[in-house]
Amino acid sequence: MGSDNKIDVLVVGGGMISKEVILPTVFQEQKQGRVGNVSISTLTGDIITELRGMFPKFTEYPNPDIYGETERYPDMFKEAIRNLPENGVVIVATPDHLHTPVIKAALEIGRHVIVEKPLCLKVAEAKEIIEIANAKGIYVLTDYHKRHDRSIRAARYKFRRGELGEMLHGHAWIEEPKYMALNVFKDWAEKSSSFEYIGVHYADAYYFVTGLKPKRLVAFGQKKFLPKNGKDAYDANQVTIEWEDGSVFFIQTSWVNNEKNSSMTNQGMQLLGTMGEYWADHKARGMHFVTEEKGYEDYNPNFFKQYDSWDFPGEVDNVGYGYESIAQGINDISRIFEATDGMNEADALAKRQEILKEMEDTRGLPGQAIVGVAINNAMRMSVDAGSKFVVFDDEMNISFQD
Ligand SMILES: NC(=O)c1ccc[n+]([C@@H]2O[C@H](COP(=O)([O-])OP(=O)(O)OC[C@H]3O[C@@H](n4cnc5c(N)ncnc54)[C@H](O)[C@@H]3O)[C@@H](O)[C@H]2O)c1
Repeated sequence: MGSDNKIDVLVVGGGMISKEVILPTVFQEQKQGRVGNVSISTLTGDIITELRGMFPKFTEYPNPDIYGETERYPDMFKEAIRNLPENGVVIVATPDHLHTPVIKAALEIGRHVIVEKPLCLKVAEAKEIIEIANAKGIYVLTDYHKRHDRSIRAARYKFRRGELGEMLHGHAWIEEPKYMALNVFKDWAEKSSSFEYIGVHYADAYYFVTGLKPKRLVAFGQKKFLPKNGKDAYDANQVTIEWEDGSVFFIQTSWVNNEKNSSMTNQGMQLLGTMGEYWADHKARGMHFVTEEKGYEDYNPNFFKQYDSWDFPGEVDNVGYGYESIAQGINDISRIFEATDGMNEADALAKRQEILKEMEDTRGLPGQAIVGVAINNAMRMSVDAGSKFVVFDDEMNISFQD
């Protein structure tokens, strides 16, 4: 770690989640003195031009003044990673199917990683990531920000204290508007689905709350609207998961909802245990605005919102679980650097592995993130095979049920 105790950050992506959550978080951490230099690697120069207008100075890959606005540079992230100093973290915010090459390039030279959920799309890739990360003692956090939502932490806390008893069943719903599949994710909607992109949040939430592993699942999907509008993708997907204790959790997802909804995402969760129940609407959290500009809006104060800053007059503080999840990754990595500062490599490796072991129970490190990967992978197998059951073994290997 450098003498200034700051972490350098490289963000690879530059799309919606980068602009709305990751970069505001990273630059807030920079303002607070925890982050040093910021670099951003994108596919095309026009994204860098747009980001220049939104954020303070950063190192640019590709620099549009040299490389132009529209030519694609799909491998430039490798150069950006090679140039990231040792005290650095790579934040991966590329489309779901393009996480693995970026993670592996970072692991290869020993850089810590924060990756948007899902870690990757295939169990085999997750296992490879686990193996390298464990052997080298590298921190790879999947940003399952719902783990930081107090509404989900509350369910975990009560369940782990035994107040809900043993789990019986539950369901969750998470649905987004048509512009997600048709516009925001137009380049990769056909390679993903509303379940793989957002439904997996609730599969992870059930695992985070209960600690249970999945036993088998069956998935369904409909192609009624998107294929007629130029996208060979599922409109909606539903997945029923049976867990190792016999409890059952149903997750309903879509990305063809009405664009005039009262907030971007319909979402919530219900759980029933032998001793109690949990019920939470994660969209309508008991407050709304009605304005001339936007009409009626449900307002989730917990996710990622701007409030008048306490310490920087005239500026804003980004507050919420979207912020906390990424900030936790940066703080964890900072802790690892501080604890290993000045050690020889063998001692530093042992120390990193010890710290990672301590963090394993609560964080979306690869040993936990593989559960969401396996559920996504199994969901895709099941739905593409006309809704066959897919079973999981203890190592999260998946296969069709006999
Ligand atoms: N934590 C969450 O709740 C949450 C929410 C939204 C998205 N996500 C995840 O974040 C990731 C990105 O989502 P998004 O909403 O920003 O998608 P997006 O499509 O808006 O952005 C992806 C960006 O990656 C860029 N890209 C593609 N290939 C690249 C390459 N080789 N090098 C550099 N950049 C490249 C694209 O040009 C695009 O700008 C996805 O995995 C998604 O599932 C997570």
